[in-house]
Amino acid sequence: MPQKRGKRKGALALHVSPVVEPCMILETFPTAEEFYKTYWGKKPFIVREYIPAALIDDMIDGDSLAGLALEEDIKSRIITNNDAGNEWTCEHGPFEDDRFDDIGDKNWSLLVQNVEQYHTETAALLKYFQISPRWLLDDIMISFSAPGGSVGPHTDSYHTFLVQGTGKRTWKISADKINDQRFADNPHVKVLKHGFEGETFEVNVGDVIYMPPFFGHEGKTIDAAMTFSVGFLGPKLSEMLGDYAQYLEENEDLNPRYLAESLGRQSTGFSLGQGAQDVIKGNVIAAIESDHFACWMASYFSKPTHEEIDPIEEDDLTESELLAQLKEGETLFRPEHIKLTITISKDGSFNLAVYGDTISIPKAQAKIIETLNAGNDLAYDDIAGLNDKDHAITLVTALYNRNVLVFNEDN
Ligand code: SIN
Ligand code: CO
Repeated sequence: MPQKRGKRKGALALHVSPVVEPCMILETFPTAEEFYKTYWGKKPFIVREYIPAALIDDMIDGDSLAGLALEEDIKSRIITNNDAGNEWTCEHGPFEDDRFDDIGDKNWSLLVQNVEQYHTETAALLKYFQISPRWLLDDIMISFSAPGGSVGPHTDSYHTFLVQGTGKRTWKISADKINDQRFADNPHVKVLKHGFEGETFEVNVGDVIYMPPFFGHEGKTIDAAMTFSVGFLGPKLSEMLGDYAQYLEENEDLNPRYLAESLGRQSTGFSLGQGAQDVIKGNVIAAIESDHFACWMASYFSKPTHEEIDPIEEDDLTESELLAQLKEGETLFRPEHIKLTITISKDGSFNLAVYGDTISIPKAQAKIIETLNAGNDLAYDDIAGLNDKDHAITLVTALYNRNVLVFNEDN
């Protein structure tokens, strides 16, 4: 007869219960404090039914996603796998529309990137990730997968929210960062050579999984499914320094030449003496410590990570025309994929940037940007209530004419 656990006779040592790993499934989405303290970059979690089914109904469907995969400038891939999950193929789009005719009913996934740029209702998903650093958003990538479809066990450099749209999948996820990041020798997909240890969860409509960078994950489709991967990617140091160098180049007064003054005899011939090294290093540090760097950061992180293929194009309005429309009760909003980034310089001024262009704005006007960035519409009263109403209307008109704001058609 099996002994009851914990009742074993003769056990002299105190019985210590095994440490139970905190469950990855959370009752509710974490608050911003909890999110950054416990999870962001550190630990995956799952929240069931976080995204309302009604929002998912409005998001892009499989047919329209396949339609995007036919477009020249849109990045798409079809990945197939075998039943055993050890062989893959990958084809890159654009695809011919008959590509889907004989694709079969199992073991494939279509993945399309940057969908937030092409489908406003899909971009609305971003509102549910307001506590994330939206300035790091890379894109919403969507996979449509047939039963059995999988891109294999892998890690990403991204922070990803995997949102289950339609259908049903399982996700195996690791509780820790994967030490062995080596990929299998496969020209088609980047799958982990030695897989990873993890727990498997079944996900349904509206469930969300947060995966930090370099944590293992592997989705497998049970019922034809759409997964929305909301990805946040930090740039490489070389990418940032290269861009800052370009910024200095475009602002000649920020770009002084090293004149090699005050050299000593240690710097003769091909030797750079310590004094010369210190001056050169000091110049670079000064460039980074200056307020211009804060300005550049706003500009850099406001740039779309992928070229906008179909930018909003409306006729320009004068300030009085725009004001008249707002007075009539119309409201303006910022399409979710547009990044209106802000940094505060040491002198307290606000650097506002969009599409890589920066302007300095007073604190009062930062309120307007807060409203827009929170995903709220901007109405006449939001501007009329400000002390510096005239400058505010100038700012809002400039943003409208830069195709950053759009009138809400629902009004
Ligand atoms: C998938 O939907 O199968 C892949 C998504 C991901 O791992 O980012
Ligand atoms: Co992934």
